[in-house]
Formats: sequence, C-alpha cells, structure tokens
Amino acid sequence: MTRMTLVAASAAFLVLGAAGASAAPGAAMIVHKDPNCGCCGAWIDHVRAAGFAVEVRDTTRMDEIKAALGVPDDLLSCHTAEVGGYVLEGHVPVSAIEAVLAQRPGVVGVAVPGMPMGSPGMDAPGMVAEPYEVVLFAENDVRHPLGTFVGAQRADR
Ligand code: CU
Ligand code: CU
Repeated sequence: MTRMTLVAASAAFLVLGAAGASAAPGAAMIVHKDPNCGCCGAWIDHVRAAGFAVEVRDTTRMDEIKAALGVPDDLLSCHTAEVGGYVLEGHVPVSAIEAVLAQRPGVVGVAVPGMPMGSPGMDAPGMVAEPYEVVLFAENDVRHPLGTFVGAQRADR
C-alpha cells in the first residue's frame, strides 16, 4: 500500500465514541498559547476536566511553533497542543482527542480551523453554537474529515 492509502485506511477506522475509547486519565498534554489568549484558557479547562494533565507554555512565537509541529496554514487556529505523539490545533473537542488516542490513525494531528462559535472554549453563555469541521491532517496535505460537530459533540450522524 502507498502511504496515502495507509492514511485513508487508518482514518476510516476512526470511530467517535467507540466503546473503550475514553481518554487515558492523566495523559500528559503540552499546550502552546499566546499569553493574552482567553479562549485558549477556556479550552484548557475543557481538556483538564476530561483528565488530561496539561502543561501550559505561554509564548509569543506561536507562528514558529505551529510551523515546527507541521500545522498546515489553512487549518490555523489559536493554541497548538501536543498529546500522545499527535498535534492538536485549535478548539478540538475531547471526544475527537479520545478517538485519536484510542485508535491511533497514521496522521500528524487533528485541527479545528478558525475559532468556531460554540466549540469547546468558545462556548460563552448566549453564544449561538455553529457547526464546525474537525479535520485529521497528515503530511503532504493529506486530510481526512472526522466529522461535523456542534458544541463538544459530533452532529452529522
Ligand atoms: Cu481560540
Ligand atoms: Cu486557543
């Protein structure tokens, strides 16, 4: 199989909410963020509540960190995290992180491009939640959509 076929095959087996796909309690996560980012802190609360052991690294050089970690330009958001050998870009919901860690697809990471209203950390009271895409990304611009979410949950099934 070619590399691209492998990526497609492994991503196809990524099942959200599969039995036994709960996050490893206490799994170590590094979050890189700008010191002035408020929604980043709200997202960190979301992952900490699920049991991740988060180390926050404030930096004003996010551009360099995103480039070094291989985050594609068109998937950029605010914070960038590292967990279990994967890169997380933006307001990725815990359910997607758990699925990736449990099923270990052959990708670089998972992203929520932009700053969708209602995504974890962007869910202030009174805000109308909008549907948003969660995207797995691999090298050579390989992408695999993981699904459409509203709030912290998948909404397209
Ligand atoms: Cu944000
Ligand atoms: Cu952020």
